[in-house]
Amino acid sequence: MIMIQSHMIETELKTYSTRVEKALQRWLPAAESHPTQLHTAMRYSVLNGGKRIRPALMYATGVALSIPLLQLDGPACAVELIHAYSLVHDDLPAMDDDDLRRGKPTCHMAFDEATAILAGDAMQALAFHILAHDPGMTDNPQARLHIIDTLALAAGSRGMAGGQAIDLASVGRKLNIAELEDMHVHKTGALIRASIIMAAGSNSGIDRNVLDKLDHFARCIGLAFQIHDDILDVEGDTKTLGKQQGADIARDKPTYPSLVGMNEAKSMAQGLLKEALQSIEPLGKSADTLRAIAEYIVMRSC
Ligand code: IPE
Ligand code: IPE
Ligand code: MG
Ligand code: MG
Ligand code: MG
Repeated sequence: MIMIQSHMIETELKTYSTRVEKALQRWLPAAESHPTQLHTAMRYSVLNGGKRIRPALMYATGVALSIPLLQLDGPACAVELIHAYSLVHDDLPAMDDDDLRRGKPTCHMAFDEATAILAGDAMQALAFHILAHDPGMTDNPQARLHIIDTLALAAGSRGMAGGQAIDLASVGRKLNIAELEDMHVHKTGALIRASIIMAAGSNSGIDRNVLDKLDHFARCIGLAFQIHDDILDVEGDTKTLGKQQGADIARDKPTYPSLVGMNEAKSMAQGLLKEALQSIEPLGKSADTLRAIAEYIVMRSC
């Protein structure tokens, strides 16, 4: 088992979440502006205390590659908005039908279903607006376009939305391990990978070999993240998780613990962490925060 200095990574995660939240506060329309219910629902669903792991991965990649963090505020807001939108829609009755998210009633419970659908739609659109307009981002137009395209692909039918479709089609079915991995890589892995690739894309002169190493790292931790999420659904508690424990079992969702057993699921997550860390070994000390986030991903309790 790999050990981490958890207090240190928690402090760094806090710094990054404060940073992205400040930027999100600025980009999100004021709750009082028309149409007020939609804007209130958007702010409710974004500024509600997520872990902000995807923005943190972006900033940590920036540190590893000496990219000024100001260039990453826009991309960090964009990826968090896509993620938060995916959660709002994931919780809808037509999908996972959950009542609790980040310790509060889900968007459709606090407002109504139509508002939750529209809030998700608008959060997705805002993400791309930010990437098109943020003045702090790279001044290289090709690099900006590449960042926009990376997020579009990761959010769409070949990424997160596709993974969610596979997830819904899999309820009550017994997937084989390759099918389960494919579902996880898409529904969760794609946005985690995009966080790292978008940050790396801010440095248009990045060495191809370094990019490949970061890409492999990102794919490993993206899959490990969802395996650990499946584990927490069994072993976590509702209060700490901020979402209903046992929801996967209740809904007969295929998960790693249900397919391979708890011990094997844990050992697979650890194996992926090891592979991720090996991949970025040549990056040296500047990638230490990235390493600590990878470790946190498979050790966290929420
Ligand atoms: C939960 O993501 C949904 C998955 C993709 C597994 P997070 O665990 O990152 O949720 P928040 O953002 O911290 O609430
Ligand atoms: C969510 O997977 C993946 C996305 C939202 C894209 P889950 O359905 O397992 O996430 P939780 O457990 O509800 O957070
Ligand atoms: Mg789901
Ligand atoms: Mg869910
Ligand atoms: Mg889950």
